[in-house]
Amino acid sequence: MRRTLDDRFELDDDPARIDVLAVHAFISGESYWGKGRTLELVERTISGSTRVVGLYHDGAQVGFARAVSDRAMLAYMADVYVLDAYRGRGLGVELVRELVDAGPLAGLFWMLHTRDAQALYAKLGFRAGPINYAVMERARKDAPPTSVEDGAHRHRGL
Ligand SMILES: CC(C)(COP(=O)(O)OP(=O)(O)OC[C@H]1O[C@@H](n2cnc3c(N)ncnc32)[C@H](O)[C@@H]1OP(=O)(O)O)[C@@H](O)C(=O)NCCC(=O)NCCS
Repeated sequence: MRRTLDDRFELDDDPARIDVLAVHAFISGESYWGKGRTLELVERTISGSTRVVGLYHDGAQVGFARAVSDRAMLAYMADVYVLDAYRGRGLGVELVRELVDAGPLAGLFWMLHTRDAQALYAKLGFRAGPINYAVMERARKDAPPTSVEDGAHRHRGL
């Protein structure tokens, strides 16, 4: 699937087109959740995801999002970003919309963790979970010990 947003921006779910070095540079260097993630790990997150969507400007990777799913009921969204220079013009919403409202995972039950972009996801129907259900998590085995303790500011190794 390719979807043109205007004549210079394009969404594409072809995993072979993902610029792994660009995604790694953002996730490991700039994201608040994946600092230090190795290139090998980023490659595995891409190859192991059910669907990835890249955002391209004149062919260059400027955004990314991915989903892990059973393809039947449930999908989890992760590693959503738009490069700083391209933010604030609706591209993040279109990137997320492509995952949740188009393609093979459209309409499933979606989950995500986010520190501060709730307003973006709210535009696409996401709501905070009911407070009578606890969110329970089990950290990755290689997550640093502090990541389990420091509250909402990390994804606990996701
Ligand atoms: C979050 C992010 C992907 C948004 O991309 P974007 O292209 O700027 O998003 P949009 O222009 O489509 O924003 C649409 C709406 O989302 C909301 N929004 C966007 N970024 C937000 C943020 N960081 N915090 C709160 N609300 C945000 C705004 O309400 C905005 O609506 P408005 O234009 O009516 O004000 C981008 O800021 C980013 O990559 N941030 C760093 C990585 C990150 O935090 N990723 C999310 C992890 S879950």
